[in-house]
Amino acid sequence: MSNNPIGVFDSGVGGTSIWKEIIQRLPYENTIYLADSKNAPYGQKSKQEIIDICIKNTEILISRGAKIIVIACNTATTNAIDVLRTKYNIPFIGIEPAIKPAALATKTKAIGILATKGTLSSDLFHKTTNQFASNILVIEQEGTGLVPLIEQNKMDSLEMKTLLKQFLNPMIQKNIDHLVLGCSHYPYLIPQIRTLVGNNVHIIDSGFAVAKQTEKVLAELQLLNNNTKAGKHYLMSNSNTQTLATLTNGIKETTVEYIPF
Ligand code: DGL
Repeated sequence: MSNNPIGVFDSGVGGTSIWKEIIQRLPYENTIYLADSKNAPYGQKSKQEIIDICIKNTEILISRGAKIIVIACNTATTNAIDVLRTKYNIPFIGIEPAIKPAALATKTKAIGILATKGTLSSDLFHKTTNQFASNILVIEQEGTGLVPLIEQNKMDSLEMKTLLKQFLNPMIQKNIDHLVLGCSHYPYLIPQIRTLVGNNVHIIDSGFAVAKQTEKVLAELQLLNNNTKAGKHYLMSNSNTQTLATLTNGIKETTVEYIPF
């Protein structure tokens, strides 16, 4: 079982930002990545639609032998992880916006969060915000439109710049010193965001924390792969594979394939 792959899924290519942290931290692990780009964006779907999609993704990864599943999607985690944990006897690692570290570190007492509608409206997100950030200003912004552009690898487009300006300017005006990227697609926008917010705003994402947690859970369950040769990585997409191939280009032992799931 320990040779079996780590399963990772997202609504598309964005979760590869998390997957890259995982394979860097756990270089001997085999992985299988499911990019459900056909159904992106998840952020505009209802909770029940998101749950149904997550069930489908989980079953595909289990049928391909995953030993653990990393939900590399904030929208899917915040809306569906409880249901998945109840339904399946396999460990799940989720990803949530890093509100807590930002709230603890802010000096200006103002932080921004950029995430999907589905994440910002979830009970889990409200719970975390009330618990850790009730005494500071939290500027929530839906990133509607960003994911479809990232799926098309249009990070440097004018449309992207216009949207980012529109989303981030109100936060800058409120003097935020931390910006939480609450969607696994958004780390691919860090260079563009940095240009707009300057060097005094800390940009926080959750990839490192997820990779660390994945290692911890695998170790506790004695599921770490004890091989010492580089892991193999299989990435499948149910849509055009071009962006997936571009974003994973140059990573060794990686196969990208179109599968009509
Ligand atoms: N990458 C996902 C997230 O972290 C989903 C974005 C979307 O499909 O709307 O929320």
